[in-house]
Amino acid sequence: MSKTISGFSKLGKQEKINWLAEHFSAAPQDFSRELSAWQHPDAKVQGIVDGFTENAIANYVLPYSIAPNFVINGKTYAVPMVIEESSVVAAASSAAKFWQERGGFHAEVIGTVKLGQVHFRWFGGPERLREIFPKLQSRLLDSCADLVANMEKRGGGVRGIELIDFRDVEPDYYQLRVAFETCDSMGANFVNSVLERFAETLEAFFTDSAELADTERDVEVIMSILSNYTPDCLVRAWVECPIAAFADLARSQGMDAGTLAERFALAVRIAQIDPYRATTHNKGIYNGIDAVVLATGNDFRAIEACGHTYAARDGQYRSLSRCTVENGLFHFELEIPLAMGTVGGLTALHPLAKRSLEILGHPSARELMCITAVVGLAQNFGAVRSLITTGIQQGHMKMHLTNILNHLGASPEDAAAAQHYFQAQTVSFSSVRAFLEGRRVTPNPTVSPNPSSV
Ligand code: MEV
Repeated sequence: MSKTISGFSKLGKQEKINWLAEHFSAAPQDFSRELSAWQHPDAKVQGIVDGFTENAIANYVLPYSIAPNFVINGKTYAVPMVIEESSVVAAASSAAKFWQERGGFHAEVIGTVKLGQVHFRWFGGPERLREIFPKLQSRLLDSCADLVANMEKRGGGVRGIELIDFRDVEPDYYQLRVAFETCDSMGANFVNSVLERFAETLEAFFTDSAELADTERDVEVIMSILSNYTPDCLVRAWVECPIAAFADLARSQGMDAGTLAERFALAVRIAQIDPYRATTHNKGIYNGIDAVVLATGNDFRAIEACGHTYAARDGQYRSLSRCTVENGLFHFELEIPLAMGTVGGLTALHPLAKRSLEILGHPSARELMCITAVVGLAQNFGAVRSLITTGIQQGHMKMHLTNILNHLGASPEDAAAAQHYFQAQTVSFSSVRAFLEGRRVTPNPTVSPNPSSV
């Protein structure tokens, strides 16, 4: 039976499911029934969700959670987070509570510049290009007047056009690097539309400008697209407290406050020094950032790609956060590029993205940048605090216990007993299975025997 198909996108949703069931499932009826069930009960909502991508056949569910008690610049937020990983939301909430009692979080936006590029080849000399560039620039700006009119009314628009000469690494290759202000929108469509207009105008300029010689008319636009690297769309979040404020935490770990603060700072310095550790350290930051970015309908791939490039901006991949312990003061901060929007795109369409923005008090893009950076910092704080004290597994596996119990098909009574028992025991897949077997529970027969699949 052929597993290829032409015209898949033309099939209706149920037809797509049926075709998949028939060609790719060992139990077509179950398959069809299950996928058909993962739909929103309100057909209008389902229609909106289906409209996001091509070939949508079902909704893939992730938990929508809340991390309360985030005090940021004196204002209290309950932060929506979409993430599947055990203990991330618990760690964020715990860090929020910890800092709520120590002055809260602080954050400021350093810049909001978005960038785009027109890549082109020109075969005349660079001096001549520089000479005619002012004329080209004003023609480019004139050509996009209709596209930028609304954005300009909101205070945004094109902020600058730079000509960059790459001929030392690629013959005849130049670039227009364009800076944009897109206000509260992420602005991807706006930026790309303006860039494509610039590309047309660039070609027309070389073709029809009277002052150019015939030998100067040859130009080739390669592509026009926004850059997801926006190092000047930047936010800084920080916490600060006297070292003595760590006394209780340190005592519970058999340390003094100074030792705990120093250990924390050393762990962050290690992530500055070593890319292997930096990658994991920054992944912990993005546990928080991605969860808020997803919950608010923003583009987590763009934000991650940008952050990782930023983390390597001096040529080596490093921690995005920094920590100092000086003059009795603990200071921990995160500086991170976050190109986010609160209007347009998915923020206006996804029902839960809209709810997230409501929960956050309808923030501006700048305020959302601050909130998101703070959650990244909180997540990083929670992870490093665990790593230098109890280790990460204690909290993680406690949260993971629920997944294991569900996986093993534990009854509510057995699950409650297990939750109680494992408060004082090490959680692992096999220890939980042994506990349930000890209570003479037959594991669910559909369960995979492979614990690593959990
Ligand atoms: C796990 O998702 C994230 C951590 O590995 C982050 C870190 O090591 O800093 C705990």
